[in-house]
Amino acid sequence: MLTVSNLQVEIDRLQILWDVNLKLEVGERVGLLGANGAGKSTTMAALLGMARANGGSIHLFEDDITNAATTRILAAGIGLVPEGRQLFPALSVKENLRMGCFLRAHRKAYRERLDYVYDLFPILKEKSRQMAGDLSGGQQQMVAIGRAMMGQPRLLLLDEPFIGVAPIVVTTVLDVLRRIAGNGVTVLLVEQNVHRALEFVDRAYVIDNGRTVHEGQSKALLNDGAFAEKFLGLE
Ligand SMILES: Nc1ncnc2c1ncn2[C@@H]1O[C@H](COP(=O)(O)OP(=O)(O)OP(=O)(O)O)[C@@H](O)[C@H]1O
Ligand SMILES: [Mg+2]
Repeated sequence: MLTVSNLQVEIDRLQILWDVNLKLEVGERVGLLGANGAGKSTTMAALLGMARANGGSIHLFEDDITNAATTRILAAGIGLVPEGRQLFPALSVKENLRMGCFLRAHRKAYRERLDYVYDLFPILKEKSRQMAGDLSGGQQQMVAIGRAMMGQPRLLLLDEPFIGVAPIVVTTVLDVLRRIAGNGVTVLLVEQNVHRALEFVDRAYVIDNGRTVHEGQSKALLNDGAFAEKFLGLE
């Protein structure tokens, strides 16, 4: 459903991505792993049209979305849970969720989507009138995921969602992400904690210095001595 081929991105005349290649199937849970500064967030920015590709291509199904406008990419079915969550702390939970429905194409489904998100995260319904900034880290992450799900994405991108989230809540959120993937939504998870990511994803790519350098099933990666030596020691 997503094909990224030889993606290159330059920011301020500095080549950040040199050769990123990804291939995701419908409903798969895939990891994008790598050290600080490897290019994970830049890859996500390029998928959303927020960083300009100066080489390669990005296709969502048959649709060439390389350097397309972000609004068009959102409408085509990509949702993002950004690094650091980026909520509106002084707005209520419900108002934050509504922000995920800002495209005209999504607005008519607002009620139905809100019910879906409250069903995924019942606590958000209870706290719908509270300011997002007053919630715990884990609950804020639920709002960020819920907001992305309001746009009914076919591909959900999550950029290091578990920073500042209690381990028990991580387990809850991962269960919800499994449910979302079970509904046919493809999930691409960026995570620095390789062990935790590999428990959740079916398959992962490793990005190093702006290049995808490894790809494999989670079990195979965990048992791959060279991979383990290079990437599991990072934590
Ligand atoms: N707007 C920018 N201007 C200049 N350099 C940038 C910019 N965005 C990213 N970079 C550089 O690009 C490289 C990749 O950054 P990126 O944020 O994609 O890495 P990352 O894998 O997400 O890292 P982290 O795990 O720290 O989030 C880094 O060297 C970073 O300093
Ligand atoms: Mg990042």
